[in-house]
Amino acid sequence: MNAVTQAANLLAHAKQVCILTGAGVSAESGIPTFRDKQTGLWESYRAEELASIDGFLAQPRFVWQWYQWRRNLIKDKRPNAAHRALAQWQSSAATLGQRVTLISQNVDDLHEQAGSTVHKLHGSIWHNHCIDCGAPYEKNARQLDVQALIACPACGGYVRPSVVWFGEGLPAQPWRIAEQAATGCDVFLSIGTSSVVYPAAGLVSLAKSCGAKVIEVNPNPSDLTIVDIQLAYKAGEVLPKLVTEMTKLLEKLKSG
Ligand code: OAD
Repeated sequence: MNAVTQAANLLAHAKQVCILTGAGVSAESGIPTFRDKQTGLWESYRAEELASIDGFLAQPRFVWQWYQWRRNLIKDKRPNAAHRALAQWQSSAATLGQRVTLISQNVDDLHEQAGSTVHKLHGSIWHNHCIDCGAPYEKNARQLDVQALIACPACGGYVRPSVVWFGEGLPAQPWRIAEQAATGCDVFLSIGTSSVVYPAAGLVSLAKSCGAKVIEVNPNPSDLTIVDIQLAYKAGEVLPKLVTEMTKLLEKLKSG
């Protein structure tokens, strides 16, 4: 049995599945991953240096402009076959008798565009809020030509993107859902993540310690040693096959 069929078989017998996606799921839509080398003006910086509160406080205008550049980079990007396969799976999961929880570390909105319900651990690049008083500031998130810093109308603090930066806590609600899904799942499916950024990267070992099987989709497998089935392919190539094969098996199992 090849690895895809093995994975489809495992998933077809699962009642609860927790899926965690990372930047790799959006790579085939043309969005660079974090471990890709940055380009142009930003090439001598690592994402970790810019995506942090210290980075922003040290050079607020520079970090703001980096986000405006990133927003410009992703604004026209569309879901790829991987996002679509996951959305299709989610929409038929209840009929198939499965609970499928999708958790993402991505700040783009490609899962949502594809029609998925997704719990976002690292916020959204399409929202802003004030760094001082926390008030949401939605006006300019899609005004991508605004290069100057914006002052919060309520308190005058800098407006920043509503993404989770290195050193910041994760939003409570999606994290609670992620922990519950990881704890209760039969299979944990990790897609397109290097599994190096915590606490998100800890979800897979949490699931494993609670008895789940682990499937990883990554053309360059991560260093995780607890993977049961490795699918070393691009997400957009393998997920449509995996979901189709699993659905057929599930329908067969249901019909007796
Ligand atoms: P990374 O950039 O660390 O890892 C992306 C992973 O995707 C790598 O392991 C690649 O091998 C894999 N990959 C590349 N192309 C792929 C494809 N077509 N299909 C499947 N996999 C592919 O991204 P994340 O793991 O998401 O955090 O990074 C985690 C967090 O670190 C990010 O959310 C961000 C970051 O810095 C914050 O901003 C807080």
